[in-house]
Amino acid sequence: MKDGGTGKTILRALAGEVLPTPPIWMMRQAGRYLPEYKATRAQAGDFLSLCYNPELAAEVTLQPIRRYGFDAAILFADILLVPQALGADLWFVTGEGPRLSTITDQAGVDALKPVDDIHETLHPIYETVRILRRELPEETTLIGFAGAPWTVATYMIAGRGTPDQGPAHAMREGAPDAFDALMARITAATIEYLAAQIEAGAEVVKIFDSWAGSLKGAAFQKYAVAPCAEITRALKARYPHIPVIGFPREAGDGYVGFHAATGVDCVALDNSVSPDWAAAHIQTAGCVQGNLASSHMVTGGQALVEETRAIVRAFSKGPHIFNLGHGITPDADPENVSLMIETVRSTKS
Ligand code: CP3
Repeated sequence: MKDGGTGKTILRALAGEVLPTPPIWMMRQAGRYLPEYKATRAQAGDFLSLCYNPELAAEVTLQPIRRYGFDAAILFADILLVPQALGADLWFVTGEGPRLSTITDQAGVDALKPVDDIHETLHPIYETVRILRRELPEETTLIGFAGAPWTVATYMIAGRGTPDQGPAHAMREGAPDAFDALMARITAATIEYLAAQIEAGAEVVKIFDSWAGSLKGAAFQKYAVAPCAEITRALKARYPHIPVIGFPREAGDGYVGFHAATGVDCVALDNSVSPDWAAAHIQTAGCVQGNLASSHMVTGGQALVEETRAIVRAFSKGPHIFNLGHGITPDADPENVSLMIETVRSTKS
């Protein structure tokens, strides 16, 4: 196994090192389950105002680090800022989620802004990264992120979250040239956005493909694997030392071979994947991250302890970063997060 050459546990695991205790962070660790998050968000006004306010976005990023001592902080922002920077209208409806202006044809793609213009909108995010690099404890790794092109496209086409990503599938089948042009624009913007986060101080980047599970076979290869490989290749050409985490959520058998096919250093697993199976079929190719069901953060108790231990043990023979299988939900109990962390740090493999 390679040596990460650094004291930061997240970077060591990403370099392939097998650690006695897996480092931990949690998707959506800055969020509405924390009273201090809700207070800062109220101060900012709405969610997007919080994302674009570097001082307050840095503050909410730091809150879970102060409370729990996670090994990584994830930049506070959203995957839908890239469509907004490309010219889409974006707003959030309380209790429902995001809304965007829709794109259904080539004219819609042509009306988007050029990739070089995205920084005019996104520069406050880079400032958040710079503040965080100054303020984070020395041992805490800063993770930047973006949405994967397919997932971002599903929101840009439908104008909202959809249960089956139907409008995006209809466009890729009915208007493949316009769809490919949209994917290419998002991919190019994502590369520049992540590069700017790295220039500002992000030490790792993660690509969230939340809706990868609705792509199968050749479509999975073309719209989940290939764009992730292209982004990873472009970033590694410029920043060979920056690790990339891929998250093709609910990819099922698509997880197998994902490290090699995309060049990512780590594959994040959702909780539909059994840890013993993943240790045998995915972790053999590199670091994995995951994969406790976020429902345990609501229910807690002995089931949380047992499932956490089973995951730590299953992945103890290879490089592993402990995380949830998806984001923590607003109804989670902050005490259960403490119990998860204590359990991970006290489990003997
Ligand atoms: O993980 C973190 O703590 C970092 C910040 C982060 C957010 N969104 C903040 C957020 C990250 C990494 C994301 C990624 C994101 N955003 C994804 C991919 C990961 C996933 O969950 O599948 C997606 C699909 C989005 C788009 C998005 N943003 C939706 C669908 C929603 C509404 C659902 C919800 O939880 O309210 C958001 C809003 C959002 N993004 C919130 C946060 C903290 C809640 C906003 C609030 O405070 O009201």
